[in-house]
Amino acid sequence: MTRRPRVTPDGDGRRRGRPAHPGTLAAVKILVVGTGAREHAITRALSLDPAVTELHAAPGNPGIGALATLHAVDQLDGRAVADLARELTADLVVVGPEAPLVAGVADAVRAAGIPVFGPSGEAARLEGSKAFAKEVMAAAGVPTAEPRVATTVEQAVAAIDELGAPHVVKEDGLAAGKGVVVTDDRQAAIEHARACLAKEGGAVVVEEYLDGPEVSLFVLSDGTDVVPLVPAQDFKRALDDDQGPNTGGMGAYTPLPWAPAGLVEEVLETVARPTVAEMARRGTPFVGVLYCGLALTSKGVRVVEFNARFGDPETQVVLARLRTPLAGVLLAAATGALGALPPLEWSDEAAVTVVVASQGYPAQPRTGDVIEGLGDADAVPHVHVLHAGTAVDDEGRVVSAGGRVLSVTATGADLAQAREAAYAGVARITLDGSQHRSDIALKAASV
Ligand code: AMP
Ligand code: GLY
Repeated sequence: MTRRPRVTPDGDGRRRGRPAHPGTLAAVKILVVGTGAREHAITRALSLDPAVTELHAAPGNPGIGALATLHAVDQLDGRAVADLARELTADLVVVGPEAPLVAGVADAVRAAGIPVFGPSGEAARLEGSKAFAKEVMAAAGVPTAEPRVATTVEQAVAAIDELGAPHVVKEDGLAAGKGVVVTDDRQAAIEHARACLAKEGGAVVVEEYLDGPEVSLFVLSDGTDVVPLVPAQDFKRALDDDQGPNTGGMGAYTPLPWAPAGLVEEVLETVARPTVAEMARRGTPFVGVLYCGLALTSKGVRVVEFNARFGDPETQVVLARLRTPLAGVLLAAATGALGALPPLEWSDEAAVTVVVASQGYPAQPRTGDVIEGLGDADAVPHVHVLHAGTAVDDEGRVVSAGGRVLSVTATGADLAQAREAAYAGVARITLDGSQHRSDIALKAASV
């Protein structure tokens, strides 16, 4: 299915007042791969870039469909994505989620001679295997929690007892943010290890507990050079006050008024540059965005995890503050030209996003419920609603189609104002049984 966009990039008045594009980029056609609010945020930012003349998404979602032409292509099928990109004569393909990256979709597009923002399947193992990420960090001298890799329950129990409480047990492979258990309960830690190891080829990483606040820093890489974006903070637990199970992320904000000065430079020096250099040395250069999930511990900055793509929901707030038009930035990363990119420009405003999730998320999300008030929420000043798990039903209604359904995003002069606007947006949305956290950016807004 190919659907025509309801709003062309040119028809979007929000572009006014944006700075001129640096360099000579013009008439760029872009294909975005993915279905979530992160991809909606990327597509929205690209739609505000005057250089972008055509936007396509595979397969996208109903929100993305308002900005881009949707193509019903399997996002895990590298050949199908590369064929579509060729057919569209795309100048750039942006792969959003981890699953297609780990499946080698970027390799297929790159093999077709089309610039792609996103690492090869080999390089995406930084996210696809926690054990591999630990190995790279050890080789590159990157500070992280001391790990033990276990492939049997006996090994896991020994590691759990050796490292002590609080216990941190992680499934080795991709688990959409839900494969990690952090607990004081030894039995619960062992049960999680047992469940992960029951899967074919299962392995778990048991590691030292890291104290201190978490920061997400996205670092663009063209394989050699790196460019940091602004730090953000994610809320991983399902419930207020960081209670409940881990999720993909329930909200985010930027900037971080409490973060120490020099944090970004320190992460570049101790984490991003050594990792990118190590990947290049191995002959598997990392091209795309290295998501550095960090803990600011009493002993210094430690890597909690790497991801091989933009974070969701942090991207929603980071891109809301980016003033430099996005297409040229992503194209520079995809084509080895980050070194020549002028410094990125950022808005001084704050941004907050609140995830509206379906009933039962993360364990058993209920889908198919009608969503109302989307237009009302979008109409709140400084608010834009990004679609995550949504679909259009037979009667043309927008319904929930996943665990995280919407990411209601707002900007404001400071975090308090951005928060207020985001929650005003959330209040206008009706979705039976839905849940959201009420404390996104609450503490930071009162710093
Ligand atoms: P991950 O998928 O590795 O990011 O883990 C998900 C979440 O679990 C992280 O964002 C942290 O909140 C928590 N976590 C992971 N590893 C550790 C650790 N070593 N110490 C404390 N908390 C952790
Ligand atoms: N926000 C966490 C993630 O994208 O993995």
